[in-house]
Formats: sequence, structure tokens, C-alpha cells
Amino acid sequence: MPKISSFFVTRLYHAAVSEHGKAPDAAELEATCLSVAEDDEAGQNWCEESDFPGYTSYSSLDDLAWRFPTFKELVKSLDKHVAAFAKDLEFNLDGKKLKMDSLWINILPEGGIHTSHLHPHSVISGTTYVAMPSGTSAIKFEDPRSAMMMAAPVRKTDARYEMRSFIYVEPQVGDVLLWESWLRHEVPMNMAEDDRISVSFNYRWE
Ligand SMILES: [Fe+2]
Repeated sequence: MPKISSFFVTRLYHAAVSEHGKAPDAAELEATCLSVAEDDEAGQNWCEESDFPGYTSYSSLDDLAWRFPTFKELVKSLDKHVAAFAKDLEFNLDGKKLKMDSLWINILPEGGIHTSHLHPHSVISGTTYVAMPSGTSAIKFEDPRSAMMMAAPVRKTDARYEMRSFIYVEPQVGDVLLWESWLRHEVPMNMAEDDRISVSFNYRWE
């Protein structure tokens, strides 16, 4: 029998925020996201000028954890999740740390999409889910080697999980997903009537 092995794996971390420390109260976190969005005129203007569907605080606010206890609590838990993931990834941190360098709110309305992107200048990126109305979008990850595939045939639609070129994950409210920042991802169109609310973040090595 031939031996076929797998290597150069892509890891995706999926847990409940509450698995490490106290998770913020879901209703309070949602209310905070909505009130930040409502008050953040600079952010609203940026979204409008950039044709960004819904709202993101990415370009306007960099101190959510300092302003709101519920975000402070969230960051404390996320630090632990990221440390656990870094262990799984077998990173040699060489005496340095993975430190959060940005944290932002995303509010995606009905019909909104976040097109395919990756997160430069970071090591680990992730999202925690605040409001996921029924029927809202999954997050879609793309095989990082797709640019090298050239003339290769596409994979079968029922290919086994680790062979697929795209992976869809449907997280629940209170979940956290982590991945390495080079992993390309997108949020397909939100087909639910209600807003899909999430909080995303980046960690760098320093
Ligand atoms: Fe992203």
C-alpha cells in the first residue's frame, strides 16, 4: 500500500469564549456594540465614504477595551484563547508575546458582505460572535494555496473536509474563532433580516 501523508496544515481554533475565563454577558456586549455604532460619527462617515456595508469601528476607534468594561473582560478571555492556540501551533515565541493590537466591531446588515481579505501585519486573527440571526452568513475560509493551483481541476463538492478548497463555519453567539492571519476569508451575503454582529481582532508578535 502506498503511504500518503498530510503536512503544512491550516489550523482553525473554535471555542466558546467562556472556555477561558468569564465570557462577557451576551446582551450587554450586543447593546454596547450597537451604542458605539450609534455614537461613532467618524466611523459612520468612514463606512459611508468607503462603501462599507453597515458599520465597522476599525478605522475610527482603537480603545474599546479601555472605554468599556465588557470589552475589557472580553480581551482578558481572548488573550487566553490566543495563548492556547499559539501552543497548538507550536510557535517558538522566543521570549516575546502575542499581543492584541486591534479590536473592532462589525455590524453587517441584511444584504451586506465582507469581501475576501487577509489581515496583514498580524500573526493570529479572529472573531467573536455577538449576534447571529437565524439564516445569517457563515464565515468562508479559502485554501491559501489557491493562487498556485493554476491548471489543477477543482475539488469534488463532496471532497473530504481536509481536501476542500473552501471551508464554511457557522459559529454561535459567544463563540470565538482564531486562525493565522494569512488565511484568506470572507463573509458571504447576510440573507437574514437582522444585523450580524461580530467583534474581530488581531494579535502581533512583539
Ligand atoms: Fe477578517
